[in-house]
Order: sequence, then structure tokens, then C-alpha cells
Amino acid sequence: MIHPTSTTALPARPSVLVTRAIFPEVLSQLRVHFEVDANQDDVLWSPQELVQRLQGKAGAFMTGTEKVHADLLAQCPELRICANMTVGYNNFDLPAMTAAGVLGTNAPDVLTETTADFGFALLLATARRVTESEHFLRAGQWNRWRYDMFAGAEVHGSTLGIIGMGRIGQAIAKRAAFGFGMQVLYHNRSRLDVATEAQCQARYVDKDTLLRGADHVMLVLPYSPQAHHTIAAPELARMKPTATLINIARGGIVDDAALAQALRTRQIAAAGLDVFEGEPAVHPDLLSVANVVLTPHIASATDGTRRAMASLAVNNLVDYLVHGRARTPLNQPVARA
Ligand code: DGY
Repeated sequence: MIHPTSTTALPARPSVLVTRAIFPEVLSQLRVHFEVDANQDDVLWSPQELVQRLQGKAGAFMTGTEKVHADLLAQCPELRICANMTVGYNNFDLPAMTAAGVLGTNAPDVLTETTADFGFALLLATARRVTESEHFLRAGQWNRWRYDMFAGAEVHGSTLGIIGMGRIGQAIAKRAAFGFGMQVLYHNRSRLDVATEAQCQARYVDKDTLLRGADHVMLVLPYSPQAHHTIAAPELARMKPTATLINIARGGIVDDAALAQALRTRQIAAAGLDVFEGEPAVHPDLLSVANVVLTPHIASATDGTRRAMASLAVNNLVDYLVHGRARTPLNQPVARA
């Protein structure tokens, strides 16, 4: 006997967009709950293509570079959540998202220790001139040992100044104090409580005192318009001529043109940069100075950490769109009608 085909429609599953290539298991996890529009070819969409792909989607898995602003939101009325797999969220216009009823989420905590490790890797490579000396060796220029060859700056026992004392700043302070016997100065929008300062062995100072007193300055603050060019020509002029500057925070926090000039004239000794103004473009003057270590925004890049970051973004999408509550919300949007 032939059964009549059921005419009862299944409830439509929400659709989500995954804006960039990602671990295949992320797509599998999302497909349990959603219709998934993926981009495993890793095409870099124009802003208009991003809008087109987002139309009709309830959620988006993002990698921290896709700009979400009022104009985009107005064209994507079904959108309810944008989940960054990064801790930074300067790609989000949060007030516009709140007004449009769209939740933003980020991925804090899961990358703290890995990113702090990298801050130290970059500090050590910069102060001890690791990449500069490797280039010399690879170029076949090493033909004898010399007493002053690639003499760098001490790290152990020196003074580290950390600007931005959130989770990652604190993890760096602990490595510095307990691993390398460094004195740690920090500057932050707000001072830490006494117990946290003691755990980090860190002393709060104003920015000027930090810049003048530190042998190494590490930037770990989030980007905001107020943080734009936190380090520019006047700040570089206050640093010791033997100092190094490390930026693992965000491009735009340092004035890269002013930094290149300070490196060329040896106003400061060296810099280590993982992030750049206008990245992936790098200021050409930085490419032509020897006393800078350059890496392509990889501070959180270990396999385990990148999987944990992606997994948190997946959980945020599922928890919000299926259960109504995200794990790491950044704003409290008014629900969309
Ligand atoms: C972040 O999570 O914000 C990092 O910069 C991306 O690796």
C-alpha cells in the first residue's frame, strides 16, 4: 500500500553564515542545528557581498575582521547574532548592534595563556635579536664569532611595562615576575584590586612613568577610538633608547610610521609587532628596518587554542539561537520583532 505523502511541514531551521574557512568540525557542529552557508574556499568578500550572504541569516560565525555596522544591519533584518571567534571585537559597532537587536559575542579566556606565551616569544625574539641574527646567518654572512655580535638587551631582571592589564596582560605579568624575575609596571584604564596586583607582582603607574621606566613595553589593550595611537612620536620620545616595544594588541594602537622612524634613528632599540595599522598591509618603512621582528597576527595561533576559540563561537550561536542565552555576550540587544 502506498502511504500518502505527509503534508505537515517541518519547522524551518535557522540559517547561519560562516564568513571564512574554518575547521570542518565547526561546520558539522553547526549543521546539527542550522542550515549552514560556508566559505571553505576562504573567498574575501567585499562589504556588499558580505551583506548579500548575510541576508536571510539568523546568525554569523565571524573571525574578527568582518565589519558589522548600522548600514549592514539595516540590510539584514533577520540577523540576530554575530559570533566572533576572537577575543577582540573592534569589528563590531556594538551600539548599532544593540539598537538593531543583534547580539555580539566574542571568545575570551580560551586564548589567554597562548597569547601571553606569544607575547613573551616576541619579547625574547626582539630583545635578543633572534630573527635579525637568523637572517644574517641565512645570508651566509656568519664567518666568525665576535664579542659584540648581535648583543641584545637583558630580559631577566629587567623592567617590563604592560599597557592594558586585562586577562592577557595579567598572564604576561605572571610570566615576567615569576619566570624571569622582572619588575612589572602596568598602566590600565582602571587600577586592579590589591589582591590581583599581588598575584601578578605588578605595580600601577601612570603612562608617562611606565614609558620612562620600562626596559620593555608590551601593549595588550583592546582597540577603541580612545586607544588609537596610544604609542606615537611623543610616547616613543619618552622611552629609553635601549627599550623595546612589543605590540600584540591591535593595529592602530601604535602609529606605525612614527615607530619606523624611531627604529631607523635608534630612538628606541627594537620592536616586535604581531599587529599592524591596515593589516594585512604592513607599513613599507617597517619592512626596511632591521631592528623589528614582524609576525602576521599569530599570537593566538596554536591548533588547540584556535579550536577552542572556534568552539566557543559555535556554542554562542547554538546557545543563543536554540536556547535564547549566549555564553559570552557583549551587549544586551532589544529582541528583534
Ligand atoms: C583576538 O582574538 O582578538 C586575536 O587578535 C585573534 O587572534
